[in-house]
Amino acid sequence: MTIDWEQLHIAAFGMIEKAYAPYSNFPVGVAALVDDGRIVVGCNVENASYGLTLCAECGLVSSLLASGGGRLVAVYCVDAKGDALMPCGRCRQLLFEHGGPQLQVYMPTGIQSMSEILPGAFGPERLPRSVNLESSP
Ligand code: THU
Repeated sequence: MTIDWEQLHIAAFGMIEKAYAPYSNFPVGVAALVDDGRIVVGCNVENASYGLTLCAECGLVSSLLASGGGRLVAVYCVDAKGDALMPCGRCRQLLFEHGGPQLQVYMPTGIQSMSEILPGAFGPERLPRSVNLESSP
């Protein structure tokens, strides 16, 4: 399906003002295209107990499930200047779970697939009683 990166960038940048980042002063916004065509978004949410910070991608994945699920096709994460931001290591794993190796990620260095930015990923198919993602509700 066609990926409108400009549309994703606008949606991600729009989340910057929603971010709650009083400790780092580093707001992050993210938007993703879902395989049914809808757009889901997220922003980082920090906490006085610093280690409990939720990255923007955490919110994105919650939003994906809360709005009906599906598979992530393309993700665009930005900083306060609107520049592309690479997802942190933990978030690459989160995104991999819901987009798989084909997921397209807008990195500062250009568009890359998840298989390139998280090679050799551990995924649900490695578990003996792995769920069938195609038939999951
Ligand atoms: N952050 C994200 O939201 N996503 C990332 O992939 C990288 C880091 C947030 C977490 C924290 O609130 C702030 O950026 C500074 O690390």
